[in-house]
Amino acid sequence: MDIPGKVVVITGASSGIGMATARRAAALGAQVAVVARSADVLNTLTAELNEQGATAVAFTADLRDPAQARHAITAAAERFGRIDVLINNAGQSAVGHVADVDLDAFRQIVELNVFGPVAAMQAAIPFMRANGGGVIVNVSSSVAKMQILGLGAYAATKAAISKLSATARDELEPENIRVLTFYPGQTATAFGHNALGSQQARQGLRGSLSGQPDAPELVAERLLAGIASETPEFSMHDQPSEMSKS
Ligand SMILES: NC(=O)c1ccc[n+]([C@@H]2O[C@H](COP(=O)([O-])OP(=O)(O)OC[C@H]3O[C@@H](n4cnc5c(N)ncnc54)[C@H](OP(=O)(O)O)[C@@H]3O)[C@@H](O)[C@H]2O)c1
Repeated sequence: MDIPGKVVVITGASSGIGMATARRAAALGAQVAVVARSADVLNTLTAELNEQGATAVAFTADLRDPAQARHAITAAAERFGRIDVLINNAGQSAVGHVADVDLDAFRQIVELNVFGPVAAMQAAIPFMRANGGGVIVNVSSSVAKMQILGLGAYAATKAAISKLSATARDELEPENIRVLTFYPGQTATAFGHNALGSQQARQGLRGSLSGQPDAPELVAERLLAGIASETPEFSMHDQPSEMSKS
């Protein structure tokens, strides 16, 4: 789906990958709805985009709460009259070995990384059906396919959303709703700083991660390229248009 002129809803747009995606989508001519908890940051972002001639609106929600997720997505759809693209990007990590990971932190990231996108999809799908179709992108992570010590809980949430995304793809394909899954790798955002878990666990993880992180602007480009080519499953280091559409 081409981005110019489309209504694009982006969750987790107050930071990192989501903010870079909102800026890039607006620059390409999309009408943008941005969702997160940080109202001030979202309002500054939409003011910036609107000054540049885009149409951008902010909706504040704690996406761990399905009622707030549904309310924000519905408000965005009603504001623009439709949703063409939903990008489920908001996410958080919880760090800790399986032997002692904090279960309250684990529960919180299940609510955000798994229930949040499902609630947002459930709110957006009726509007997409009414409009004859749409595109949903669920932002997973490369760690969904790996074992990294201390990231088991987070990786489990991303593996869960990947599986839900693939199943929804087949369920919604007859209705012209394309459900895509994106697997970014390590990206230079506040994500590590924002992770739940003890200081000790987070420091231990930092020491075990290697490699140069991607810039969020580059990740945003790849995400939007994946939407343009409607590639079902794509990551940073492949060409979305060259990947299988199965
Ligand atoms: N950075 C990486 O290395 C990396 C790698 C692979 C995948 N990812 C995935 O990419 C996505 C974006 O991550 P990022 O790196 O851009 O992280 P980030 O800079 O920490 O941004 C996370 C975004 O999620 C929002 N968010 C967090 N908790 C929320 C809640 N309860 N309700 C609503 N919004 C909430 C934050 O906004 P508020 O705090 O304002 O609510 C923020 O806009 C996540 O799904 C992450 O799992 C990241």
